[in-house]
Amino acid sequence: MRDIKNVLVVGAGLMGKNIAFVMTANPALNVTVTDVAEVDVRAGIIENCRQLVERGVITGAELDSRLERITFTTDKSGACYENADLVIEAVFEDMELKRTTFAALEEQCPPDAIFCTNTSVMSPTEISARLIHRGRFAGTHFWNPAHLIPLVEVVKSDATTDETAQAVMELLKSAGKVPVLCKRDVPGFIANRMQHALWREAVSIVENGIADAETVDMAVRYSFGLRLPQLGPLENADMVGTDLTYSIHEYILPHLESSGSPSPLLKSLRDAGDLGFKTGKGFRTWTPEESERCKEELYSYLIRALYGK
Ligand SMILES: NC(=O)c1ccc[n+]([C@@H]2O[C@H](COP(=O)([O-])OP(=O)(O)OC[C@H]3O[C@@H](n4cnc5c(N)ncnc54)[C@H](O)[C@@H]3O)[C@@H](O)[C@H]2O)c1
Repeated sequence: MRDIKNVLVVGAGLMGKNIAFVMTANPALNVTVTDVAEVDVRAGIIENCRQLVERGVITGAELDSRLERITFTTDKSGACYENADLVIEAVFEDMELKRTTFAALEEQCPPDAIFCTNTSVMSPTEISARLIHRGRFAGTHFWNPAHLIPLVEVVKSDATTDETAQAVMELLKSAGKVPVLCKRDVPGFIANRMQHALWREAVSIVENGIADAETVDMAVRYSFGLRLPQLGPLENADMVGTDLTYSIHEYILPHLESSGSPSPLLKSLRDAGDLGFKTGKGFRTWTPEESERCKEELYSYLIRALYGK
């Protein structure tokens, strides 16, 4: 495997900027970010890291020195492609765009450079289907906000080599992330499968008049939601016993939501233009101040939970 020194991030949007910043946590890495549009990557990262600096997680000087190792270009060819040891693609979530982006990258980057896609839900097997060197390709699913959420799901396609997956896991660890290996290319990978199983049930509870939206969120926040950062569901199953878990599942599973399509309530909100924060109304109503405060408080909570600051 190549020694990884030069990382190329393709796509300088919300995720690309934060991923570039994350990779500079490994002091040996230099990062180039490319985009089709001119993007002020530096200003974007400074804004995203505002709370980290204000709360003393990193100093302004550390941020500056990490920013010095990030270069932005709109060039479609040149040294940043020829010297790339690892590429992380974070362009729009569009299968054809991702495929053509990687086809162009394959023409310019070394044949053993590792290729990663930050797709949220698309199959790495499908994205890499037309590539020549498919073994060096893997999914790296960072979570938003990528500079705070530790998890990255490393997703093997049907062709990803163990060596590639291992090298990507090691590199992510060296940048302070918590990589987990998704051994099979399945929709939703690992964490989104669980997250959306919960959301489906949450919507169903509201739809069936069992509780309102605010109550559903409270029920999570003040019960198992508090335990989750310390006790995963399977640790919890072992703690209470697989016998008790079996009995509970035998009784309750037939009553849980199992629809294979989005709920009619969710569809009616979407169709009515009640899109949540974007329009001020979704499952609940939100003033602009409330939605802004909700986002700020999330960052604040994450920093406290992760860094104790
Ligand atoms: N936003 C999230 O919460 C989130 C979370 C996890 C994964 N993702 C995934 O990450 C990827 C990027 O999402 P985002 O939210 O950063 O999107 P975004 O819209 O903020 O940014 C996408 C960027 O890609 C650029 N781009 C488009 N075509 C390009 C090309 N051919 N070459 C170079 N740059 C190009 C755009 O100009 C834009 O700056 C998507 O696949 C998305 O599904 C997003």
